[in-house]
Amino acid sequence: MTFLVTAATGRTSSGVVRHLRAAGEDVRVLVRNREKAQSAFSDLDGIEIVDGAFDDGAVLAKAFNGVDVTFLTIGGNPDQVRLEKAIIDAAAKADRPHVVKLSSIATSHDSALLPGRQHAEIEDHLAVSGLSHTLLRPVSFTDNLLYAAESVAAHNSWAGAAPTGRVAYIDIRDVSEAAALVLRDPTLHGKTHDWSGPDAYTFPEAAALLSKILGREIRYVPVSADERRSALLGAGLAKWYTELFVSLDTAAEAGALQAVTTTLKELLGREPRTVEEFLTENATQFTK
Ligand SMILES: NC(=O)c1ccc[n+]([C@@H]2O[C@H](COP(=O)([O-])OP(=O)(O)OC[C@H]3O[C@@H](n4cnc5c(N)ncnc54)[C@H](OP(=O)(O)O)[C@@H]3O)[C@@H](O)[C@H]2O)c1
Repeated sequence: MTFLVTAATGRTSSGVVRHLRAAGEDVRVLVRNREKAQSAFSDLDGIEIVDGAFDDGAVLAKAFNGVDVTFLTIGGNPDQVRLEKAIIDAAAKADRPHVVKLSSIATSHDSALLPGRQHAEIEDHLAVSGLSHTLLRPVSFTDNLLYAAESVAAHNSWAGAAPTGRVAYIDIRDVSEAAALVLRDPTLHGKTHDWSGPDAYTFPEAAALLSKILGREIRYVPVSADERRSALLGAGLAKWYTELFVSLDTAAEAGALQAVTTTLKELLGREPRTVEEFLTENATQFTK
């Protein structure tokens, strides 16, 4: 089988490429930056690179030629819906591969999570395309806790608008491994896979865990969503990314990210990585 991985220099997608190659699969990648892809995969052979804009019909036709299964993902960005729809349209015009789309557990048109609303639009487009497809819906990536690292290193605290909401963080490495398993196994196709990590934490609980790991007191400072928005805009973050961060808090408070499932463990055949393991591995990032 030939696999196409889109936005293959991303965090999840690059791991997917590695797992597919380790399993001996033929992998083509679609990227906007050829040099970045060449550098990211310099230690791997057998990776075919197609580069160009994700809304360029000629680039997409080249990318999809002869592809059996594609991993559809792009990093969160304001243009994500339009670009993923363009990729789906190109797949439908080409050899009609099976599409495994990286979505979100909080996907719905009225989701508190900004990317959840984007994924709902893309999933609708995928449904009407008539392409056979599979949906991967992970909870928030544990990496998101690194957004607190600079503030923790400087002030032993970070602020947010989710004092009580739980998040069942999932490790990106586990998502990549599980996604590659799904891509390669047709019996797992045509389904929606809801994935979480093994535990759900509130932010104050994550602060307590960090305190234990770092050996100094770390505090989570609750603020309102409006205060959080003003602080992010004041720090120079663009409006769309500000709304993304605020929505991560409001979605957590709304309970949209808290469900712990065992589906990832069953698929991987082992315990998924924990938040404690991740924070321990990345402890130096929380220290000056
Ligand atoms: N973060 C989470 O907690 C989480 C949880 C569940 C689901 N998800 C979903 O997972 C997906 C991946 O999200 P992520 O934030 O983690 O992404 P990421 O792994 O950081 O991926 C970034 C990739 O997207 C590419 N990219 C970004 N904007 C692009 C554009 N305009 N045109 C072409 N390529 C573009 C980047 O290319 P360059 O390398 O060239 O910059 C890179 O290859 C998203 O759909 C997100 O909603 C995320």
